[in-house]
Amino acid sequence: MSNERIIVCGADGQLGRELQLTQPPGIEAVPFNRQALDITDATAVELALVTTGARAIINAAAYTAVDRAESDTETARAINATGPAILADCCAAHGTRLLHVSTDFVFDGASGQAYRPDDEANPLGVYGASKLAGEQAVLASGADAIVVRTGWVYSRHGGNFVKTMLRLMAERDRLTVVEDQVGTPTWARGLAQTCWTLTLAPKAHGVYHWSDAGACSWYDFALAIHALALELGLLSTAVAVEPIPAADYPTPAKRPAFSVLDKQRTRALLGYAGLPWREQLRLMLADLKATQD
Ligand SMILES: NC(=O)c1ccc[n+]([C@@H]2O[C@H](COP(=O)([O-])OP(=O)(O)OC[C@H]3O[C@@H](n4cnc5c(N)ncnc54)[C@H](OP(=O)(O)O)[C@@H]3O)[C@@H](O)[C@H]2O)c1
Repeated sequence: MSNERIIVCGADGQLGRELQLTQPPGIEAVPFNRQALDITDATAVELALVTTGARAIINAAAYTAVDRAESDTETARAINATGPAILADCCAAHGTRLLHVSTDFVFDGASGQAYRPDDEANPLGVYGASKLAGEQAVLASGADAIVVRTGWVYSRHGGNFVKTMLRLMAERDRLTVVEDQVGTPTWARGLAQTCWTLTLAPKAHGVYHWSDAGACSWYDFALAIHALALELGLLSTAVAVEPIPAADYPTPAKRPAFSVLDKQRTRALLGYAGLPWREQLRLMLADLKATQD
């Protein structure tokens, strides 16, 4: 029997690449990067669905430049809100399942407790607002839809906090990192595996949260990157890593002070809790080293 096909949009991004590396047995991931399929082009989306005969779409395409979104509002909204709406309408028309990925930045961070899927969203910036509009369009479309919110995504591909830290730690002898914003890092590989499992779970429907396990500040995250990079030989000399308040590192976009996600609903459905973020970081750094050598 031939494999069932599932379209991956945004295939050249961090999650898109990891989805291709983790496709489950019996499934053929059909990757479309931005050049091959622009999710804001309804005709192209329809054509991709019809020609592949895909059973589902996983949307890993997004506008992820959080600060640039503040001054590039139209583009952010087109990719993060209009694009998912187009995908969802097309999926609804064809009876195709859609898994759409969203963000912890839909929350304002005022809570002291991990956010549950049904907690009230109140984004602080354009990126979070555009992602929330995308979620809402997907959920209102009538498609068989799953929305997975995640946060602080990193991988060996593309640009992310881990790779920026490794570069700065190699260039400088001292760096400062924000300590009063707390969330949970997420290795894109584990997120990809969870996206596959949810896509293939017949009962999955609505909003789910996924990140690695635990919580930390950006400063804690940087300290862990530093220690593991030294241990694994990705960094040859120790540098001073010092905590600063977010107020000392002004950015165009406001970020939530607390964006830990409650993953109970996902864990209950899938039957696994995910690995602690430090363990995932070690695995990713080992993966980075192995692919660099
Ligand atoms: N990165 C994070 O820390 C983070 C945190 C929370 C949630 N998320 C969410 O997780 C998902 C995956 O993020 P990621 O880190 O893998 O993002 P990423 O690395 O920035 O990848 C996004 C991909 O989407 C592509 N894309 C942009 N506009 C498109 C369009 N109109 N049509 C098709 N493709 C388009 C991009 O291509 P170009 O590079 O050519 O623009 C890029 O390859 C997104 O939904 C994101 O919002 C990410």
